Amino acid sequence: MFLGPPGAGKGTQAERLKADLSLTHLATGDLLRDEVKRGTPLGLEAKRAMDAGELVPDAVVVGMIRERLVGDAASNYLLDGFPRTIGQAESLDAMLEGLGAPLDHVLLLSVSQDELLRRLGGRWLCRNCGKSYHETFAPYGGEPCEATGDPCDLYQRDDDRSDAVANRLNVYAAQTAPLIDYYGSRGLLREIDGERGQDEVYGQITSAIQGG
Ligand code: AP5
Repeated sequence: MFLGPPGAGKGTQAERLKADLSLTHLATGDLLRDEVKRGTPLGLEAKRAMDAGELVPDAVVVGMIRERLVGDAASNYLLDGFPRTIGQAESLDAMLEGLGAPLDHVLLLSVSQDELLRRLGGRWLCRNCGKSYHETFAPYGGEPCEATGDPCDLYQRDDDRSDAVANRLNVYAAQTAPLIDYYGSRGLLREIDGERGQDEVYGQITSAIQGG
């Protein structure tokens, strides 16, 4: 599981790790954005909370994860952006116990607030393949979209506006940061210095997973 504040690099590192370890990547933010894009009732309900930088109700995200954490996914999963509250973590515990698929690692990506603001303010994403770029740290170089083969269709997320970002950081501190102690007290948590370059962060992640 990747734990960390908005913009810490969870999605960026998850893309790489899932490819290297053939993991099923379960990212509640991506799942919710897909519901919004398809205009489903769940998406319409979630959009208001997401745009404001608030959390979507626990029952909604727990249901989404429960639906997907079956079959092969249950033995080889990577959680990104879930859980985000103690209530979600408790529901996940019950779910994983039922599946006999305990968590192996919880990796906390730590990044300073100034750096988070720089990362979120400069992030651009492709509408079609979902790949994340940054105007300074990981600029788009015109490479073809992994979904369409055409140039990427880049956009900035509505919740990367400065007012929504401020709210997301407050929500993280109040509702998600308590998970650091929750998993720390079980000996599952490893802290990663997420402030470093992408390759260096990935090196720390693979070494933590291998017990280094
Ligand atoms: P979600 O999509 O999960 O957003 P988030 O947690 O706020 O995380 P981000 O996607 O913003 O950041 P990231 O850590 O993945 O960073 P990234 O790799 O993109 O959730 C969105 C919303 O959905 C929530 O606010 C909430 O409303 C709802 N939601 C989702 N899950 C929920 C849940 N469980 N419960 C309730 N509600 C939920 O990197 C950021 C930028 O930095 C990129 O441009 C990247 O290129 C760049 N970058 C990455 N790594 C580096 C590096 N090492 N150095 C320099 N730049 C870097």
